[in-house]
Amino acid sequence: MTRTVLITGCSSGIGRESALRFQREGWNVIASMRTPADEKELVNLSNVICPALDVTQETTIRDAIAEGLHAFGNIDAVINNAGYGLIGPFEAFTADQINRQFQTDVLGLMAVTREILPHFRQRRSGLVINVASFAGRSIFPLYSVYHASKWAVEGFCDSLQYEVSSYGIQIKIIEPGLVKTEFWGRSTDRENRTGIKAYDKEARPVLDLIDNAAGLFATKPEDVADTIWNAANDGNNRLRYVVGVDAHTTLLARKVLTDKLYRGIMKTVFSPSSVSMLQKFSGKLQKMGNDAF
Ligand SMILES: NC(=O)c1ccc[n+]([C@@H]2O[C@H](COP(=O)([O-])OP(=O)(O)OC[C@H]3O[C@@H](n4cnc5c(N)ncnc54)[C@H](OP(=O)(O)O)[C@@H]3O)[C@@H](O)[C@H]2O)c1
Repeated sequence: MTRTVLITGCSSGIGRESALRFQREGWNVIASMRTPADEKELVNLSNVICPALDVTQETTIRDAIAEGLHAFGNIDAVINNAGYGLIGPFEAFTADQINRQFQTDVLGLMAVTREILPHFRQRRSGLVINVASFAGRSIFPLYSVYHASKWAVEGFCDSLQYEVSSYGIQIKIIEPGLVKTEFWGRSTDRENRTGIKAYDKEARPVLDLIDNAAGLFATKPEDVADTIWNAANDGNNRLRYVVGVDAHTTLLARKVLTDKLYRGIMKTVFSPSSVSMLQKFSGKLQKMGNDAF
């Protein structure tokens, strides 16, 4: 029987590539997004529907699941992918910015999971794949709230698997490194609280570098979709899937180094002087990055 997957955040990036991959492989795809009226490609594919789903709006989650069940009868897997990154000095975030990061990347993911669990429990089968990040088990400067959200996702998923496994439900976590998507463009939220200038000297060069160079060595969203596809089909109980050389290296460093050493390396890498050195070569790096993709 044809299997069905529901994916959140399919308007671009990892969610979109995953929708395309599962569709190509013959699955039914509930490719949800906030504004399906703008979608031109996915809506025209066979066995794909694009319901409106904003992970911060519970009624849209319920309606999208109902629409998917009406169209395809069952849902076998959910991919919690919707998310974005809040970047900058913590003190310069507004309360709304901090809330929205958690409402989307943490509480939104929990809300979708909670809504699908009764269906999975009833069927004694189901898979929830959560797109976290290598940022969920490692640390970089100026990502405090984003890190907190992804660490929260890791803890949530790691604990949840115990209580749902006896109902035949599996929880999996995808941990990509840097991926070349809109995450580095329109999906970046920047510090917005007025009047906080204290961090400018130290933080500005690092933020400028992130603006100019983020994604240079990034993995492609298709690679992450590949890993998600494998996670959905490998038939084993593995919990975590790391994607990208940068993610593997960083997580290994985080695992084997002491806190002190890891912190020392991060401080050096993200110091204004090494940033200015990297900026010198950023034109070359940009070209290398563009050639690679
Ligand atoms: N790119 C990276 O380097 C990277 C690395 C590690 C992990 N990740 C994670 O990968 C996931 C996907 O990001 P991406 O890289 O593919 O970026 P992306 O291209 O910007 O895609 C993000 C998607 O999330 C959607 N979204 C945002 N808020 C939403 C909400 N409230 N409800 C429903 N959908 C919402 C966006 O929809 P709209 O079009 O409506 O904004 C968009 O479809 C995120 O969870 C991100 O944290 C990304």
